Amino acid sequence: MKKLPHPDPISGASYSAVELAPANDHVVMMDQRRLPTDERYEELETVQAVVDAIADMVVRGAPAIGISAAYGMVLASHEIRGDYVKGMIEAGKLLKAARPTAVNLAWAVDKMIDEAKSHASLKAGERMERMAEAARQIHREDVAANHEMGRLGAARIEDGATILTHCNAGALATGGYGTALGVIRAAHEAGKKIKVLADETRPYLQGSRLTAWELHQDGIDVELITDASAASFFGRDEVAMAVVGSDRIEANGDVANKIGTYGVACLAKAHGKPFYVAAPWSTVDEACADGPSIPIEQRNAREVTHVGDAQLAPTGVTVRNPAFDVTPAELVTAIFTERGVIEPVGPDAVRRLSPNE
Ligand code: MRU
Repeated sequence: MKKLPHPDPISGASYSAVELAPANDHVVMMDQRRLPTDERYEELETVQAVVDAIADMVVRGAPAIGISAAYGMVLASHEIRGDYVKGMIEAGKLLKAARPTAVNLAWAVDKMIDEAKSHASLKAGERMERMAEAARQIHREDVAANHEMGRLGAARIEDGATILTHCNAGALATGGYGTALGVIRAAHEAGKKIKVLADETRPYLQGSRLTAWELHQDGIDVELITDASAASFFGRDEVAMAVVGSDRIEANGDVANKIGTYGVACLAKAHGKPFYVAAPWSTVDEACADGPSIPIEQRNAREVTHVGDAQLAPTGVTVRNPAFDVTPAELVTAIFTERGVIEPVGPDAVRRLSPNE
């Protein structure tokens, strides 16, 4: 199934990471594990199917898993028999446990639980409509946020610049358009002639499988590089800046993102180049004071020892496979959000833009 099976996608593009079907009875999700060779959509009909899809990385990327969880809560609202709010809280627990690091997941679930509490006295059909509207609103706001941070970030990109990015923070990782790739898209749309160096992003290869696919589709000049070669491109002065997404930004401005991001930030610092982060405010976790308190997902050994069915390491070797790292605030030049630019990156600038201030 190549064509997106949805008549009016909120992503605003010819493909989407996730959409809710018009009848609100199933979630349409691209199976990102099959990219770059196979663009295929799954139809998920239960909240458990959405939990499994998040855990198995059918969908991935912090905002996209938050939106998927919101749509999962719509499906839960069909399934609950008995105490509605209790049932929604239970469904929310399942979703939150699917992946630990991206705070957007818990943020979206909590918003949906608040919505459920506010309309618990309504009839079942009306509750489902309200849940569907709330989830679509989360999706719409994410796309709008990406365009706004893209506009702010693109202003920092000079014509002719080469930009290094890590992992995939594109349309596939969000409601549509992308965070880091939103900045790159906005610069491209503004007519700037830019080139992107996409880190392949071992071990799950989001850079080669997803970022290269997205940019290639858009006709944006992209060169795929191995993670290990990034230093030499900085060293040859071929990189003007780095821009990445985030899974969780702390109250002090520390940034959790895909494993390898911290290394890119160190390289940018060593070579005197800006290191930018683009993320919606749903990624900011003001309740978390600093990097060490972020739960870091530890993924399975097979992702490191194998590529597909090919074994690359001796059977039984011990493997460590943390999926994320934390870049300290002092290495981050600026964070583009839909609420403005966090700069200089630190607790004061985070507080200044906070909706809670
Ligand atoms: O393990 P993944 O693919 O979910 O990790 C994704 C990232 O690290 C992204 O950079 C991050 O979620 C930001 S996406 C806009």
